Amino acid sequence: MGSVLMVRSHKRYVTLVFLFSLFLCVSASVSHYSIPEEMKEGSVVANLATDLSLDVKTLNKRRMRLDIIASKKYLDVNKETGELYVVEKIDREYLCNTKLSCYLKLEMILENPLRIFNIEVEILDINDNAPQFRRDAIHLDISEATPKGERFSLSNAVDPDVGSNSVNTYHLNGSKFAELILIKTLDREQQAVHNLILTAVDGGTPARSGTASVIVHVLDTNDNAPTFGKSVYNVQVLENSPIGSLVIDLNATDLDEGSNSDVTYSYSLYTSEKTQETFNLNPSTGEITIKDMLNYEDFRIYDMEVIATDKGANSLSGQCTIKIIVEDMNDNHPEISIKSFQTPVSESIEVDTVISVVSVSDKDSGDNGVVDLRIPDNMPFKLRESSDNYYELVVSEPLDREKVPEYVITFTVTDRGSPPLSDNETMTLELLDVNDNVPQFPQSFYTIRVMENNAPGDLLSSLTAFDPDLHENQYLVYFILEKEIANTSMSMLFSINPENGNLYALKTFDYEIEKEFLFHIEARDSGSPPLSSNVTVHIIIVDQNDNAPVIVSPWRAHDGFVPKPFWLCKCVRNWDDYMFAAMVS
Ligand SMILES: *[C@@H]1O[C@H](CO)[C@@H](O)[C@H](O)[C@H]1NC(C)=O
Ligand SMILES: *[C@@H]1O[C@H](CO)[C@@H](O)[C@H](O)[C@H]1NC(C)=O
Ligand SMILES: *[C@@H]1O[C@H](CO)[C@@H](O)[C@H](O)[C@H]1NC(C)=O
Ligand SMILES: *[C@@H]1O[C@H](CO)[C@@H](O)[C@H](O)[C@H]1NC(C)=O
Ligand SMILES: *[C@@H]1O[C@H](CO)[C@@H](O)[C@H](O)[C@H]1NC(C)=O
Repeated sequence: MGSVLMVRSHKRYVTLVFLFSLFLCVSASVSHYSIPEEMKEGSVVANLATDLSLDVKTLNKRRMRLDIIASKKYLDVNKETGELYVVEKIDREYLCNTKLSCYLKLEMILENPLRIFNIEVEILDINDNAPQFRRDAIHLDISEATPKGERFSLSNAVDPDVGSNSVNTYHLNGSKFAELILIKTLDREQQAVHNLILTAVDGGTPARSGTASVIVHVLDTNDNAPTFGKSVYNVQVLENSPIGSLVIDLNATDLDEGSNSDVTYSYSLYTSEKTQETFNLNPSTGEITIKDMLNYEDFRIYDMEVIATDKGANSLSGQCTIKIIVEDMNDNHPEISIKSFQTPVSESIEVDTVISVVSVSDKDSGDNGVVDLRIPDNMPFKLRESSDNYYELVVSEPLDREKVPEYVITFTVTDRGSPPLSDNETMTLELLDVNDNVPQFPQSFYTIRVMENNAPGDLLSSLTAFDPDLHENQYLVYFILEKEIANTSMSMLFSINPENGNLYALKTFDYEIEKEFLFHIEARDSGSPPLSSNVTVHIIIVDQNDNAPVIVSPWRAHDGFVPKPFWLCKCVRNWDDYMFAAMVS
């Protein structure tokens, strides 16, 4: 407060009252003054000398003094001027607390003669205190369910000032409420705490104010149902996933608080027994896990409905559906089924003839169920797809039993899963012989030398042919082909064992009569039709020295042949040459 205002208010408040007493020494009159509290030290309240008509010059001599009935010496008097002035700031509230009127009672004492004046100084309230709330924050708990119009009292503010300087009005963030009135129902889920400022304003000029925050905690009621993030969940699960594997972790949320938002999960009646037996639903966490092995080949889609219920007084619930789609895993081996297999077959079977029909299958789906059938390479067969998953094994090249008598064919089926699975089946194809080979002699021409004078029945040679065919196709019969040399039946001279081709002489040969024979021997198999081949046999009779020399006259012709003794001697050294020369002649 400025000093100009001070002076003005001083003049305004100071009033003088004279009351005359009948007593001499103690004036019955009471001088009354009014001053505002909180005046500055040294401020003059009044001139007592003037007001009481005292001679200023005598005051000092008469030992003028003040007696204050108070704990402090607030005021004093100037002995030179007679002025009453403020020694110490006066706090009305300290002095008088909440009393509406506040007085300082003083006695001014003068001696020679003794006189006592009673003085009353009224301490006027100024608005030096702002309203104050006992606590800075006022906490209120109000349920969401509280109807509008409900009133809540707030604690009052106190202002030690009095009268109009004391608390006059309350404001709550601008709007004027002495008490808190609910004008709109609360929604904890929208705003759980409302922070308000309660302002208390006094009626002083200028007005002072004090504030407290009003914190309204909105108490929850179960007014929200649990909700799932989505109404439908589609989940894919691999078949054969281990028991206990997590399928989905459901999180129903309930905007309420405490038990009103505590959710338990359960299957609805709509969820089939089988589904409930296959999947476990944890009632408190909402986790759905695998309870029983999943087999894509048995069951592919599970539909379930889960209900989330809160634990509030009037429990509310929400639901969602979950579609669990089982995904295929390559867990089934492909299978081969031999529908037909023709064995044995003739080695002369034609190219493109169907030998076997094979079907393949795989219970898996997608690539896991797509299969490829193979047979080993380097086989005179090929696979031909006849219809879906049916294959024919056909001959791709001419067969020859004599080279490969049987084939071990392994059918291998492999799926395209990852890793792939396979299966195999092995079949043996036997070939039946066909008489397609002629008997064969190791040589095409046999020269056999036989010493003359041999014994009849002597084994001359063994002429064995070979036939790679089988059984009767291989079983050979040997015989001598006749009518080679006119008038000579070779069968009279030689015989051959039809079974083993041993050639025997039937008579004793005499070089001097017969020197050689030429004929054919045939080997014939027993196939149908039979096949045969022949060889030429040249029998040469070898001369022995079995004749004594005979002297014949050189001039006597004998068969036109005229040997000369010296020529003979010369030639005899080589009987073979001689014999040959003789034959040729
Ligand atoms: C009241 O005032 C306080 C402080 O200014 C503020 O935080 C709060 O939001 C206000 N409340 C309303 C209802 O306006
Ligand atoms: C549920 O919450 C968990 C943890 O936050 C999360 O991993 C999971 O994906 C949520 N489930 C759904 C269906 O959103
Ligand atoms: C055939 O299958 C068996 C097992 O079933 C396997 O040991 C063998 O190696 C397979 N053979 C071929 C040629 O794939
Ligand atoms: C063949 O034999 C017959 C009688 O067996 C005979 O008449 C004929 O002259 C003979 N021929 C030769 C060339 O020896
Ligand atoms: C002997 O075999 C040859 C072919 O090797 C054939 O030409 C001939 O006719 C056969 N001889 C007889 C008598 O069958």
